[in-house]
Amino acid sequence: MQDQPRNFPTTQSNGEPLKPITQAILDRRATIHFKSDAVPDEILEAILKFGAQSPSGYNLQPWRFIVVRDQENRKRLQKVAFMQPKVAEAPVTIICLGMKDVCSSGFPLSLMKIFP
Ligand SMILES: Cc1cc2nc3c(=O)[nH]c(=O)nc-3n(C[C@H](O)[C@H](O)[C@H](O)COP(=O)(O)O)c2cc1C
Repeated sequence: MQDQPRNFPTTQSNGEPLKPITQAILDRRATIHFKSDAVPDEILEAILKFGAQSPSGYNLQPWRFIVVRDQENRKRLQKVAFMQPKVAEAPVTIICLGMKDVCSSGFPLSLMKIFP
């Protein structure tokens, strides 16, 4: 499939091999503060492409992602995120948009008429 991630990193940023998914789930924690180190393009692309593998009802994929790298824009975003420092602190912030119109368009219901 064309949108599957390719050439994604096989090591962590410290050079260690990637963790098994079970260990990654156990080690995952919310992050309070972020370093300002740049996120390499291949890592960012892998995050977005792996995220896009998520399934969705009727395969509608009613989401869009906006990558915010610009510092001024991250500061603007911080204002609508309860002024949380991490929003402007992290070198990249990803806005996840849910496309509510997809659900109100009646598309799933029209599908049910075709495939009762
Ligand atoms: C949908 C969602 C939204 C969240 N929003 C924030 C947030 O705005 N600010 C924040 O500091 N943490 C946020 N968190 C992190 C949670 O507070 C955190 O996951 C929870 O306290 C459990 O801690 P842990 O992730 O380290 O296990 C969010 C988590 C989820 C799942």
